[in-house]
Amino acid sequence: MKPTISPSILNCDISDLAGELHKIRNADFAHVDIMDNHFVPNLTWGLPVVEAVIARDILPVDCHLMIEDPDRWAPAYAEAGAASVTFHAEAAKAPLRLAGEIHRLGAKVGLGLKPDTDIHDYEDLLSYFDMILVMTVEPGFGGQPFLHSQMNKIRRVREAAKRSGVEIAIQVDGGVNRKTIEIAADAGADVFVAGSAVFKAEDAYEEVDELRRIAAAHVH
Ligand code: DX5
Ligand code: ZN
Repeated sequence: MKPTISPSILNCDISDLAGELHKIRNADFAHVDIMDNHFVPNLTWGLPVVEAVIARDILPVDCHLMIEDPDRWAPAYAEAGAASVTFHAEAAKAPLRLAGEIHRLGAKVGLGLKPDTDIHDYEDLLSYFDMILVMTVEPGFGGQPFLHSQMNKIRRVREAAKRSGVEIAIQVDGGVNRKTIEIAADAGADVFVAGSAVFKAEDAYEEVDELRRIAAAHVH
């Protein structure tokens, strides 16, 4: 499998969003974190910013919705042209119906799991999703340390998918850097979100290449 690199623009220079997106043009996606100050204790941006990023057409957009009531709000992101829309298992009232709706609108669908959410309850639902997002920090902020405790969850998702013959991507988000990307890839992840590691690097473009190179040697 090939690694997918999806830098988070959460901590980029938002006064120059187009310039920042250009720096990471060698990535596979731009990961855009939508926070509503309710599901997580932080507030970022919403649909208009996602629409503006899509309109620039520099990278496909990977939306990570850390919001309450995704059943109501998530479809609009697919309709706007996001390549992939991830909502949280803890927030969705009818995750399967919502996954179907997002698919019908033409986007890939991800299911996000906070660190204390067990995959067990969702194992039978894997075939409805293109991706499982295993959070390796408590969602809300960039720059937090990687939670090694989540590697078991990645392994369990991989095993459950294999058992049921489902092809699914596993995304890791939070504290991903040159060291931890290796660990996550070894555990079975293949989609890597990195915020501060990319945007605090001297050269974001080179950092994307370097993360891809390291991950490629470790994804199964
Ligand atoms: C955190 C966000 C992440 C965050 C990652 O809730 O979902 O996407 O931006 O930032 P780093 O890579 O700095 O942990
Ligand atoms: Zn994220």
